Amino acid sequence: MPEYKIAVIRGDGIGIEVVEEGLKVLKAVARTGCFTLQLTEFPWSTNYYFEHREMMPKDGIETLRKFDAIFLGAVGHPKVQDHITLNGLLLPIRRAFDQYVCLRPSVLYPGVKSPLAGRKPWDIDLVVIRENTEGEYANVGGFQYRDQPEEVAIQSSVFTRRGCERVITYAFDLARSRNKKKHVTSITKSNAQGYGMVLWDRIFKAVAEKYPDIATDSLLIDRACMDFIRRPEQFDVVVASNLFGDILTDIGAVITGSLGLASSANLDPSRRYPSMFEPTHGSAPDIAGKGIANPMAQILTAALMLRQLGQEAAGQVVESAVQKVLYEGKVISPDLGGRAKTTEVGDAIVAALGAPAR
Ligand code: NAD
Ligand code: IPM
Ligand code: MN
Repeated sequence: MPEYKIAVIRGDGIGIEVVEEGLKVLKAVARTGCFTLQLTEFPWSTNYYFEHREMMPKDGIETLRKFDAIFLGAVGHPKVQDHITLNGLLLPIRRAFDQYVCLRPSVLYPGVKSPLAGRKPWDIDLVVIRENTEGEYANVGGFQYRDQPEEVAIQSSVFTRRGCERVITYAFDLARSRNKKKHVTSITKSNAQGYGMVLWDRIFKAVAEKYPDIATDSLLIDRACMDFIRRPEQFDVVVASNLFGDILTDIGAVITGSLGLASSANLDPSRRYPSMFEPTHGSAPDIAGKGIANPMAQILTAALMLRQLGQEAAGQVVESAVQKVLYEGKVISPDLGGRAKTTEVGDAIVAALGAPAR
């Protein structure tokens, strides 16, 4: 029986609460399945930072390298600047383990009301493939003349041929294997960002030629934001730069009900390193500690993790359980218009494991 070693990092805010529910579901599905999970928790977070002045120990990356996957909640604390916490934990992991694909589905499930008028279940069913290791997040730059009137800040974007090619190719392969609309949309702003994103556009064209069975579009990010709201049903697979993918996926989340439903996976498709599974949302300090966060994004993220570990059936069981709870509409958290607590939603999903999908 396969055993998977999972590093668990709850992080900050609602990360602590929603990971609890994710683990509840993972343990329950492992009990019924044909695999075991060895879960190891690490207290790395902003609370850890308050004590140690670092978000994780110096050998944190080396420690994580031995795991099959990383299951993370969220990072970010109102008392510490985000660039310190995020650059101390989340972003270095994505880069160190070459998790160049950030995969974020947005699906309008039965039982969930879109804020967009007239949308029926499944009308929205898209996946954003966000480039995840370079682009606008390359972490190249610096300050000159710090705190002087002449102060200069430089933040460079990095687009490499290899980096663009591999993530765009992943998107095309996904469009083929999804076998839905067989369509890939590329998102840039190459009318204003005249180098890096021009390279991206060129590579998108070249890769598209190798996939004659897949239709394509190339949109500018401003237009794409509008189309996510005006006609989201047209999208199938969307491939975008790091920053644009980040922004688009919050839109994708809210048009399909809530950020509390938006799963996400940071993948190293080569499988040299562990992939990391953390929902699209952050630590939500405005609701942290109140027990009202929606744990479904974290639980659907656990489903993505099971699939990537090779446990496709278990991943489907978890996703179906979430769908059942949504469809019944009885145990729903406040972000979706209900009154259920985080733990009640987790319990309802555990109870629904194995029930037929809707
Ligand atoms: P956020 O995603 O934390 O919250 C945005 C809004 O959505 C808030 O009103 C929040 O209450 C709501 N929300 C988010 N998740 C929810 C859930 N599961 N259930 C119900 N409501 C939910 O974004 P923010 O407020 O911009 O950022 C807060 C902190 O999180 C910042 O420090 C930010 O840097 C960090 N952040 C971390 C990650 C991550 O760790 N992956 C992602 C995004 C933001
Ligand atoms: C996300 C988050 C992160 C990102 C932040 C917290 C650095 O917004 O995962 O969507 O932009 O990648
Ligand atoms: Mn984001």
